[in-house]
Amino acid sequence: MRNYDLEFLKRFSLVIAFLVAITLGLIVAAIALHRVLPPEVDPAAAKRTENRIAPVGAVYAGSTGAAAKAAAAAAAAAAAASQVAYGGTLDGSVIYQNLCSGCHGSGAGGAPTLAAGQWSARIAQGAETLYRHAIEGYTGSAGVMPPKGGNPALTEEQVRASVDWMLDNLK
Ligand code: HEC
Repeated sequence: MRNYDLEFLKRFSLVIAFLVAITLGLIVAAIALHRVLPPEVDPAAAKRTENRIAPVGAVYAGSTGAAAKAAAAAAAAAAAASQVAYGGTLDGSVIYQNLCSGCHGSGAGGAPTLAAGQWSARIAQGAETLYRHAIEGYTGSAGVMPPKGGNPALTEEQVRASVDWMLDNLK
């Protein structure tokens, strides 16, 4: 080979080597970049996957789910509580202050107040009669005692507790 052919080959292979190095560098850079970027998901492919892993069936419990049932139970409890006056308390003072005192506090309509003198004749009738008159209502010479003081939501036990409280608190 002639000298300048050798020289050419040398330079040419240098250029080729340089290009190969650049190519390898680009390949390595591309691989690195590919690892870093999040893979792009084809929405159609995602949908197909969803369809394939979708459950075969589900339990339909009707429109009354567990939440609706709990709400209904809570509402029923609240309704039951509201149908019993004053939350069903057997504290006679609470019922007296809220209801009975409307008449018995002031003596309105002829109602006997908590003055002991107004009760001696009534107490003489016996506690059962007083309970009955308070529960069923009573019209005497003084005026009209409405059944259960006018609140039918009171239980008989509650009315008895109120009468007991009144008799215990006569002055
Ligand atoms: C609307 C007014 C009114 C309210 C409210 C009322 N009372 Fe009376 N109560 C009367 C009147 C009037 C009498 C007297 C009746 C009579 O002897 O003529 C009376 C009488 C009574 C007597 C005596 C009954 C008897 O045989 O002598 C008792 C006991 C009594 N009330 C209990 C209660 C209790 C308990 C409450 C509350 C739960 C209550 N009252 C609420 C008006 C009322």
